[in-house]
Amino acid sequence: MKTEVISTIRMEDAGTTLGAELIQNGGLVAFPTETVYGLGANGLDGEAVNRIFEAKGRPNDNPLILHVAKKSDVTKLWAHVPKLAKSLMDTFWPGPLTLIFMKADEVPYEVTAGLETVAIRMPSDKTARLLIQKSGVPIAAPSANRSGRPSPTTAEHVLADMDGRIPLILDGGPCRYGVESTVLSLVGEPTILRPGAVTREMLEAVIGPVRLAPSILNPLGESEVAASPGMKYKHYAPDAEVHVVEGDPKPAAKRIRALYYAYEAEGKTVAILGTEQTMQSYRNLNAYSLGDRDEPETLCTNLFSLLRDVGAHCDVILAEGVDTANTGLAFMNRLLRAAGFSRETV
Ligand code: TXA
Ligand code: MG
Repeated sequence: MKTEVISTIRMEDAGTTLGAELIQNGGLVAFPTETVYGLGANGLDGEAVNRIFEAKGRPNDNPLILHVAKKSDVTKLWAHVPKLAKSLMDTFWPGPLTLIFMKADEVPYEVTAGLETVAIRMPSDKTARLLIQKSGVPIAAPSANRSGRPSPTTAEHVLADMDGRIPLILDGGPCRYGVESTVLSLVGEPTILRPGAVTREMLEAVIGPVRLAPSILNPLGESEVAASPGMKYKHYAPDAEVHVVEGDPKPAAKRIRALYYAYEAEGKTVAILGTEQTMQSYRNLNAYSLGDRDEPETLCTNLFSLLRDVGAHCDVILAEGVDTANTGLAFMNRLLRAAGFSRETV
């Protein structure tokens, strides 16, 4: 299969019309969102949804998110309205917040991987919304990477993973946030299953106390498998091995320098992912800045892209850990998973 790439910056109308035709005919389309690129199919067609799992090599017990173009589209997809839903949707939709509800009968089990719950989000990206609207159905879409790889934040990343596997990629340029949406379960106590740009602090300002799933900064415990199926798989792994050093910036940078020379002495190619605050300490070393520790959203925007690009050219990546307040939590959640929890604190 030949994979066509259409720039929606130049040809949004033609690109989304072609994309919508493919979706209506049971095909797959990769498209930009404000978080990461998604790989979409008709979310009401179980067979079309199965093609997503094939193209990604995704385990079929990991459920997908349904993307809607307007708030009222959820009423056909949920079984009943949880009491906190309205204020959350009014505050954070459209945007990077996925909500988990009890599902309506119309939602196929292929989407929910057999669960009675369904994940739904309304993206703020204009191209994504136009594609959904023209398709006339909710679009089921995971991140458009091969399973286990870092999520794609550019059309080039999607092409690297999906060339020859899907007919169309809509190229809307780099994604604004760079990490996937916050996943908040409204089934039972409000619980964040995956942190994102809509932070715990922001959610609590609207609905009061919100729990964090314990697996966010730790490997998954046995009892959690049912709550967030996606968490049990290897995630975000670049071609290189990743090791995380947490702690105050100065001692962390010192330890990273020492590790850098130790790996080099073993004959390995090493790269450092530092921050604006520490780049000085890595002069003359193969180091890249993730962004500003005081603005962790900058770290989120650059993480996946650096893991892919830098990881393709080295054996070991040494990365700095940061504080987990606000969007620091989403950053550390993805970084620790990319590292397979290889971490130390100085
Ligand atoms: O930002 C995003 O959310 C991107 C863009 C494309 O919208 N999508 C995305 O999808 O990240 P994916 O499939 O890579 O991640 C979906 C996550 C997985 O961790 C999955 O286990 C969880 O949401 N999930 C989906 N449905 C669920 C459900 N019913 N119960 C619990 N977790 C669910
Ligand atoms: Mg994913």
